[in-house]
Amino acid sequence: MSRRTALVTGASAGIGQGFAEKLASQGYDLVLVARRRERLEALGRDLQARFGVAVHIVAEDLGDSGAVERILHAVDDAGLHVDFLVNNAGFAARTSLVDSDWSVLNQEIQVMVTALTELMVKLGRRIVKRGYGHIINVASLAAFAPSPAGMLYTGIKNYVVNVSESADMEFRQHGVRVTALCPGFTYTEFHDVQGTREQVSRLPSILWQNVPAVVEEGYRAALAGKPVCIPGRFNKVIASVSGLLPESVRYQLGRRGRIY
Ligand SMILES: NC(=O)c1ccc[n+]([C@@H]2O[C@H](COP(=O)([O-])OP(=O)(O)OC[C@H]3O[C@@H](n4cnc5c(N)ncnc54)[C@H](OP(=O)(O)O)[C@@H]3O)[C@@H](O)[C@H]2O)c1
Repeated sequence: MSRRTALVTGASAGIGQGFAEKLASQGYDLVLVARRRERLEALGRDLQARFGVAVHIVAEDLGDSGAVERILHAVDDAGLHVDFLVNNAGFAARTSLVDSDWSVLNQEIQVMVTALTELMVKLGRRIVKRGYGHIINVASLAAFAPSPAGMLYTGIKNYVVNVSESADMEFRQHGVRVTALCPGFTYTEFHDVQGTREQVSRLPSILWQNVPAVVEEGYRAALAGKPVCIPGRFNKVIASVSGLLPESVRYQLGRRGRIY
């Protein structure tokens, strides 16, 4: 019987690193993708030593439109069959639709919409042929929140939830489940990259989760075949309340500005 293999994007930090650890602990060999090769190699050495799994490093910038094809070639060259995909790489840029360079806006679309969808479809078709597997697309609690002025992030994450549900409806007929994981505030490098660490560090600790808690709930939801997973009790309440708000109230809340 061939060994199971998981491919994790954005594995050099935060939630992606947490998924790499979780899947290694479950016996999956790994394909780790991100830009920072040294970090991936250090993580790979650690996971090989702790869990005895094989780790393949593919250093790629998912903002480059050829990246997904190169990742698939690397998978083929290594003779691997991916059974578990975690489409996790992402970031939130502080943008203005009036002032931001198109290249900045397009980078968000390329990484979190185009590359995520391309990997889900192209690897998903291979997984479907084998008739068993899991895909987790990391969205965000922001997908259910009012959208602040000038930001693509909320709309992008809303797309990730929608497309994941749509994919799950089709892939499940072939034994493959797709889960949109929607974390709330999680302790990672995300807000350092975004430049909002000082602002969000004033938020109450009840709003925050750590990576192992998010990964554990997301992993269990994927195994249980749940199309959408909002980890954490408090985040579930926020998503439900947000869904009850009239559109005009959501709009006014969005205009007040972002908190993430
Ligand atoms: N932390 C939160 O509060 C939170 C809440 C909701 C949703 N999320 C979502 O969770 C996911 C993971 O974020 P995180 O919190 O773990 O943030 P993080 O600690 O900043 O990690 C982000 C990961 O994405 C990778 N990445 C970013 N741009 C990339 C690119 N162009 N090409 C390849 N890899 C890229 C980074 O690797 P390199 O820099 O090495 O390329 C890194 O491994 C994201 O999709 C984010 O939107 C986070």
